[in-house]
Amino acid sequence: MEHFLTESQNARIVEVLSCDPQVPVSERIRIRQDARMPLAPKEVRIGMLAMNILPADLLQMNRQYGHQPSVPYVPGHEGVAVVLETGSEITDLHEGDRVLPIGVFGVWADELVVQRRSLIAVPSNSDVLQQAMLAANPATAWVLLKHQADIQPGQWVVQNAANSAVGQCTRQLAAHLNINLINIVRRPEAVASDESGHWLVDDGKEPDSLKAEVQKITRGETVVLGLDAIGGVASQALAASLSPQGRLVLYGLLSGAPSSISAHDLVFRNIQVHGFWLANWFSDPENKQKAKTVYPALIEIAAQNKLRMNVEKIYELSDIHEAIVHSAQGGKQGKVLLKGMYFDE
Ligand SMILES: NC(=O)c1ccc[n+]([C@@H]2O[C@H](COP(=O)([O-])OP(=O)(O)OC[C@H]3O[C@@H](n4cnc5c(N)ncnc54)[C@H](OP(=O)(O)O)[C@@H]3O)[C@@H](O)[C@H]2O)c1
Repeated sequence: MEHFLTESQNARIVEVLSCDPQVPVSERIRIRQDARMPLAPKEVRIGMLAMNILPADLLQMNRQYGHQPSVPYVPGHEGVAVVLETGSEITDLHEGDRVLPIGVFGVWADELVVQRRSLIAVPSNSDVLQQAMLAANPATAWVLLKHQADIQPGQWVVQNAANSAVGQCTRQLAAHLNINLINIVRRPEAVASDESGHWLVDDGKEPDSLKAEVQKITRGETVVLGLDAIGGVASQALAASLSPQGRLVLYGLLSGAPSSISAHDLVFRNIQVHGFWLANWFSDPENKQKAKTVYPALIEIAAQNKLRMNVEKIYELSDIHEAIVHSAQGGKQGKVLLKGMYFDE
């Protein structure tokens, strides 16, 4: 591991200098060299292997996110790393171990110093790109399915943006939990050809038509939960597809438009509408016990090869501007990822 430490002289860090969407990305974001800080007894120095670019990162760069740091800030919510060095009080992690930083903000860097309690060990022989995507979207899908409504095996759930990373995880986790799922995508090419399941292509232009399509699939059985990543009229279509007392959980704002839901569905059919943000869910003391079970469950399911997300492309950290522009485009096959300097092909 001496070997890791000598390389770090060139450790880089990404910095967001401005969140003004009128300014080109190339002028808003820079890479600079980072100085190495000494370690406190309960801290760990980690070297980033791969990092994910999330819609949350893009929202934050455009001053539209729930947590908005002041500039300059180091972006990045998830990735996977290798342990480089441990503080004097740490006995259960060792140089070379692979770890996920959880709840650590600012991971688009070659090296970080983090508290031991923010790291979860993961197998060193598993797919590193899959591990780089494990912290946010799989946990979101898991909590949405397990802890937002009392869903029993065999009941129906409907989700939009079903080809997104959250959507892919929801599909695999619903199968694992024996939940019936209807997947809505906005373009036919986004229907996963390697999977069975129930798919609808809906571009959102006629919100009233989705309900009939959903009922055809369920044959009138109860649809208890709708998972909405889009907002705007997509919320209206999803709410209308639910059975009376069904729960609509709005967890994404992909359309950027305010959710419109018919008063008829709210008043006469008692549709329950809730917003969801994983960060709030984890920090709510009421969820403390459930929260402890989320990552062990996901790491176990991933180890059984039952949880995989698609990758569109992996970029060198030095190509950050190109990577960000690419990740903001529609019609992708999967996630755009970044390579840290400790990535080992
Ligand atoms: N609340 C939370 O705690 C939480 C946690 C994680 C993620 N999220 C949210 O979940 C959503 C999905 O995240 P992700 O990382 O899984 O996304 P992703 O993998 O980057 O996929 C993006 C998806 O959005 C679709 N899309 C983009 N713009 C759209 C629009 N205007 N109308 C309809 N669909 C649109 C894309 O469809 P095409 O393939 O057709 O372009 C694709 O399915 C995001 O909104 C994200 O912020 C929320």
